[in-house]
Amino acid sequence: MSNAVIENILSRRSVRSYLDKQVSEDDLKLILKAGEYAPSGMGKQSPVIVAVQNKETIDKFVNMNAEIMGTNSNPYYGAPTIIIVLADKNVSTHIQDGSLALGTMMLAAHSLGISTCWINREYEMFNTKEGRELLNEWGVSDDVVGVGALALGYSKGDVKEAKPRKENYSIIIK
Ligand SMILES: Cc1cc2nc3c(=O)[nH]c(=O)nc-3n(C[C@H](O)[C@H](O)[C@H](O)COP(=O)(O)O)c2cc1C
Repeated sequence: MSNAVIENILSRRSVRSYLDKQVSEDDLKLILKAGEYAPSGMGKQSPVIVAVQNKETIDKFVNMNAEIMGTNSNPYYGAPTIIIVLADKNVSTHIQDGSLALGTMMLAAHSLGISTCWINREYEMFNTKEGRELLNEWGVSDDVVGVGALALGYSKGDVKEAKPRKENYSIIIK
């Protein structure tokens, strides 16, 4: 039996090399909509999703993230779109809500032939003065914290196979 949703989940892989080709506005909007429709604790919709295609802002993210990581490499791998997920820290499930929005968008993107990689360190980035200024510029509440980000675009190379899954990853108790 083939199941397109399961196939999509099993074939998604993180991509760390991107073509210099932007995703269309229609595809981006579909991906963002998928993120908005992810479940959230008590339906409180705590995440705030910010898609950035502006080179100057992406360069700023690269510097901020690399500084936290202590590297000179590009933590976003040159992806043409970065999706930042923040969430309202006053909601007890904000980390889970933001994480699920990220995961849902990864699968939505993959279903459209668009690659992603979850990128870390947004909590630290948006806890700095520079990060707080960006939130202010975007009109985002000061009550949010960074949860994570997606590098998003078209893959430059072949995508690797998934690693074998560990033993006893899932157990069924009857
Ligand atoms: C919470 C989380 C944080 C991650 N942070 C990074 C990151 O900062 N940089 C990166 O290249 N990949 C990051 N990844 C991607 C993982 O390395 C990747 O999902 C994992 O190696 C499995 O590979 P796959 O996604 O291709 O199945 C992160 C994934 C998760 C779930």
